[in-house]
Amino acid sequence: MNFLGIDLGTSSVKIIIMNEIGKVVESVSKGYEVSYPEVGWAEQNPEDWWNSTKAGIKELLSRGNIKAEDISGIGFSGQMHGLVLLDENDNVLMPAILWCDQRTQKQCDYLNNEFGQEKLSKYTGNKALTGFTIPKVLWVKENRPEIYGKISHMMLPKDYISFKLTGNFASDVSDASGTVMFDVENRKWSKEMLDLLEIKEAVLPKVHESWEVTGKVSEEAAKETGLSTETLVTAGAGDQAAGAVGTGTVDAGILSVALGTSGVVFASDEKFAVDKDNRLHSFCHANGKWHQMGVMLSAAASLQWWVDNVNSDIEGDIFEKLLSEAENAPIGSNRLFFLPYLMGERTPHSDPNAKGSFIGLNITHKRGEMTRAILEGVCFGLRDSLEILKDLKIEVKEVRVSGGGSKSRLWRQILADIFDLEVNVINSKEGPAYGAAILAAVGCGLYGSVDEACRVLINITDKVEPIKENVEKYNKFYNVYSSLYDSLKDKFEEISKL
Ligand code: XUL
Repeated sequence: MNFLGIDLGTSSVKIIIMNEIGKVVESVSKGYEVSYPEVGWAEQNPEDWWNSTKAGIKELLSRGNIKAEDISGIGFSGQMHGLVLLDENDNVLMPAILWCDQRTQKQCDYLNNEFGQEKLSKYTGNKALTGFTIPKVLWVKENRPEIYGKISHMMLPKDYISFKLTGNFASDVSDASGTVMFDVENRKWSKEMLDLLEIKEAVLPKVHESWEVTGKVSEEAAKETGLSTETLVTAGAGDQAAGAVGTGTVDAGILSVALGTSGVVFASDEKFAVDKDNRLHSFCHANGKWHQMGVMLSAAASLQWWVDNVNSDIEGDIFEKLLSEAENAPIGSNRLFFLPYLMGERTPHSDPNAKGSFIGLNITHKRGEMTRAILEGVCFGLRDSLEILKDLKIEVKEVRVSGGGSKSRLWRQILADIFDLEVNVINSKEGPAYGAAILAAVGCGLYGSVDEACRVLINITDKVEPIKENVEKYNKFYNVYSSLYDSLKDKFEEISKL
């Protein structure tokens, strides 16, 4: 038995094949572009996703190591919240509006203020944020009425790939949670929300648990990809829930922290719970339970910005050079703070106008301290979400870190010191794609449950302990960091209006 895990990301689709003992035997990645037609907008063409997915699958099969007939199941992980619209002939009506698109502040203000955050939270467990799906639907209704009138199906990004593979419209509970049309507590579309917004349930995909089989590869998709029509397709999960499965974050007490383009703090929960101000996202997990999550928009993206836009002329390995300078800088970067709001911020501030900033610069600061301030600023921003989890009395014993940024031991140590928690690295390096393959393995009956699969397949390979002396110093710095946004909020808005 082999399982295909497809992770439909923002910059590329990553496809892996996992065998029945959990080993990744094949892997490929195919990139595509994001287009930014206006400031704050972010779009992609769903056809590009499908073409890259087809090319990736064909390439894996052409290597000849795994035959199509030996792939038992397919699972997905997908960039969340994006809006894909199809007409009655199943043609894409407009480019997908992505999770990081910020055009919908007006629709969010309407939903949260006039429609009412209380109502939203009661029906869905969440409030409207610019990244989420429902404000995007309202934006299309208001600004592209000719397209709105032609909508026959709306779905999330990975569900479009699932549709192209099986011909069925299917989604899963974790990804559907990020639409704010979904009754997260009862794991079904919210009838109240759909009625109030005049959306027919028939335009939405049928929702499944993440490991459930939704169909088989269709004849047409088999021809286009080389896959077998006997291969089962499972529902999959949003990338954060799939990533959490891939790191074994399925039991209470484990916190998954993703240091990817975005930064995510994700706690698995046995029960449905909502924080009174909806500061954290309250979503279904891919293992049949729930999770609480905080999302920072620019985590590793902040370091990437520092490399690409400011330090690209360094010779040799730029990351290595910058990180070794940062390692030699003192804790707290000689009293320098970095606010990582390069694309605005989601948790906890939900403010598209928030701006990235260095605060506290003095004449002695050098590049090493500035780089270190970026690493620290990202971890302070993630700690904002940890503090909300503590308010909710969610107990955390251990952090499992993943994503590009987790390769840096220095960044892991800073995270351990700022969180005052043990930070662990696990055996799988494949993140959400591995979670997707695990979901397929559960759907095909290899494991009795997602939790069981995680217990068998995932173990800790490296550990960083917090250093007491650093923890104390960082606590003082965090107290200052956590007050900076409030002091600057109005100025950020003024700057946006200049
Ligand atoms: C989660 C979120 C991101 C995107 C892109 O809420 O917005 O994780 O799914 O990766």
